[in-house]
Amino acid sequence: MKQLLLLLFASLLVFSTTCGPDDTNTIRIGLIVPITGDVKTFGESVRNAVLIAVDEANQKGGINGKTIRVITADDKNDPTEAANACSKLINQNKVKFIIGSVASKASIPISEMCEQAKVLMITPTSTNPRVTVRDNGERKEYVFRACFIDPFQGTVAAKFASENLKAKRAAILYDISNDYVKGLAEFFKESFTQMGGQVTIYESYGKDDVDFSALLTKIKADNPDVLFIPDYYTKVGLIAKQTRAIGIKSVLLGGDGWDSPEMTKIAGDAINGGYFTNHYSPQDPRAEVQEWVSKYETKFGQKPDALGTLGYDATLLLLEAMRNAESEKVEDVRDALTKLTNFQTVSGQITFDAFGNPVKNAVILQYMDGEQRYVTTVQP
Ligand code: PHE
Repeated sequence: MKQLLLLLFASLLVFSTTCGPDDTNTIRIGLIVPITGDVKTFGESVRNAVLIAVDEANQKGGINGKTIRVITADDKNDPTEAANACSKLINQNKVKFIIGSVASKASIPISEMCEQAKVLMITPTSTNPRVTVRDNGERKEYVFRACFIDPFQGTVAAKFASENLKAKRAAILYDISNDYVKGLAEFFKESFTQMGGQVTIYESYGKDDVDFSALLTKIKADNPDVLFIPDYYTKVGLIAKQTRAIGIKSVLLGGDGWDSPEMTKIAGDAINGGYFTNHYSPQDPRAEVQEWVSKYETKFGQKPDALGTLGYDATLLLLEAMRNAESEKVEDVRDALTKLTNFQTVSGQITFDAFGNPVKNAVILQYMDGEQRYVTTVQP
């Protein structure tokens, strides 16, 4: 009898470590975001939003009767940390689905790991083309995103500079070690030049640089119409301050990385009047947007930024694919995701192109008196 009990106990133990007693009733989703580090508002927004979407689904009975459980890992906005987090989620937590990461430089390494391990990955916010495409141009079959990509974002910014701001001459400053920043700088340069504009200064800096006076002295002498700084809010805040302090009057322009409630705290007045491209505006009167904004605001006391909105949208996409899939198998969920057509999310209707990228509108926003103001919407 004792032996029998032992055997029973042993087999229970094996069962709980190999598949886990909760496995039959739950689906685990790994979430990789920067919760600490230099862009932590990005990770906080995405996490808040993913949890709202998952709670809503669980309250409605889960997906196909199963509860969704989110396992969050912090990548600190660092590619190596992201790879470690990803490997832990795949090998220890045995997740088959990952939402993340935020920054392209973190999403690129994890996209390669997910592809190899056949784990389905959706990045809510990483806009660099190389997240879903290999260097040889082939599609990574297990990787998707909920946002537009930077060739489009760069064109939108260039078009706005040239047509709306009537800019003829632009200077560009970029972080050479950041895939997103470097890519967006190149795409802007290419488009602006094609539109007849001239890029008079194209200079890089390093990720830990804090003193930009040498570069800004050059820019001051050049006096361009616009200064394009496609970096994240912490760096942009710093550069913007030094730009105004040295007396540069050019219009400041940037990309989605400018979106943070911390931006005006860091940059102060220096960012006033600056324009940036983004994925959505909380001022959009569409019912989906207003409903989402009030839901998020009730829970977290502030309006969701684009990161939160895309985090919510990425989760909606994944959950809908799970619902539609023939089985819980990754390949079936992936195929169901591929098949979604005009699926309504907060930031727009989503149909994926052949590279796992949705084709969506962009908006232009402006920092004005400490707030973000909606300027215009641009269609692809
Ligand atoms: N697009 C940025 C990247 O790929 C991330 C980002 C998205 C930041 C949206 C802010 C808002 O690195």
